[in-house]
Amino acid sequence: MRMRNKQRKSATLRCCGGSRCLTSVAIWSLLGCLLLLNLFSNVRHKATEYGESQLLASHHPLFRELQQVDEENIQIPPPRGKRSPRAEKRRPKRATTLVDEFLNEESQLRHIFFPGQESAIDPKKNNENDSYYYHPGRIWLDTDGNPIQAHGGGILFDKISRTYYWYGEYKDGPTYQSPQNGITRVDIIGVGCYSSKDLWTWKNEGIVLAAQETNETHDLHKSNVLERPKVIYNEKTGKYVMWMHIDDANYTKAAVGVAISDTPDGPFDYLGCQRPHGCESRDMTIFKDDDGVAYLIYSSEDNSELHIGPLTEDYLNVTSVMRRIFVGQRREAPALFKHRGTYYMITSGCTGWAPNEALAHAAESILGPWETLGNPCIGGNKVFQQTTFFSQSTFIFPLPGLPGSFIFMADRWNSADLRDSRYVWLPLIVAGPADRPLEFNFEFALWSRVSIYWHRKWRLSRVGWV
Ligand code: GAL
Repeated sequence: MRMRNKQRKSATLRCCGGSRCLTSVAIWSLLGCLLLLNLFSNVRHKATEYGESQLLASHHPLFRELQQVDEENIQIPPPRGKRSPRAEKRRPKRATTLVDEFLNEESQLRHIFFPGQESAIDPKKNNENDSYYYHPGRIWLDTDGNPIQAHGGGILFDKISRTYYWYGEYKDGPTYQSPQNGITRVDIIGVGCYSSKDLWTWKNEGIVLAAQETNETHDLHKSNVLERPKVIYNEKTGKYVMWMHIDDANYTKAAVGVAISDTPDGPFDYLGCQRPHGCESRDMTIFKDDDGVAYLIYSSEDNSELHIGPLTEDYLNVTSVMRRIFVGQRREAPALFKHRGTYYMITSGCTGWAPNEALAHAAESILGPWETLGNPCIGGNKVFQQTTFFSQSTFIFPLPGLPGSFIFMADRWNSADLRDSRYVWLPLIVAGPADRPLEFNFEFALWSRVSIYWHRKWRLSRVGWV
């Protein structure tokens, strides 16, 4: 027995090296416990968020309705006319895709992508909750009965007048092919502005920043490019500040312009343009955070990456702070939003007016690191999902009264007749764990799923009204 004790003691001594060893074991265990506790509380925090948003999702009847997607089954018509037997032999014809049909002005499916007759908003008020049905992709008329011209646009909710303002590219001019680069374009006319109390019926407030007709050296000369205007309000200066993509017809100037106004319905005074942080800037947006700090996000380095950085307090300039994100990933058309302290972004690929796949991204801090969650599009069919429902992101804004739900605003570009480009607004919901989470903590995903739901028509009841 004594012998056995002795053996045990020397064994203990051999493996640990005495009391020093015990102390380090204790320290390591303590550290381990602290780490576990930290992870656990982090996971619980996230899990509570999912729990809460899922509770909301399952309890609000409108949430359910917004998540009921429509499916699409579009048959591609056989090609018109016969090819000669020689031609058949030489090169078997590649099957036409839905995207080919979308881009083909002569397609028999044109009416599906660009419906001609009916209006985007049902003319009659629906009795249920006083809501309107909205049909994405149809022609959207303003209260005077004219098609809304606010492409590549964004929305400002003006707290002072409790009114929504929709700003965008006024493109009601002839489309022609730019001789320099072959891209179709419309000369600058200006920034269109529309106001609304209910988000569905819009009154034309006119062109709030107009093109320069005669001064050829001016940034806003009609021969140049003005795209993706966005407006935010600066509480400190009391000014409405507009940022926009300014370019020459060749897209080589790659700059960003600023204009200001005392009122949301303009007129805006153009202050000038710059290459932010000395870098190229093409597709862009601005985002105003809860703490009043605003950020500029723009495609740069030949569209190979995005840059993000805070604006000065007056929102009239960038600061020296800038982070490069999605480096080498070629993303554009950024649209940002925030939900429960997490920042989200939807971007598109870079294929000009042609549609491509959207990606959702998320970050705990707006300056990054940003992580990519995947394609947020749900419903329609595979091609609808791979083309962002034949549209391209431009802006996302929260639906008041329905936390976790947003309106995803996109442009369905009609490259042959740009003034007839359509608006695709769809419900976007942040709820539940992501499908393909990038990180796991005890089986809990770190990010919520971002979903954009396809609807042939959908309604927004009183929830979104002001
Ligand atoms: C897209 C861009 C649009 C417009 C277009 C011109 O890539 O998102 O805003 O610039 O190219 O072809």
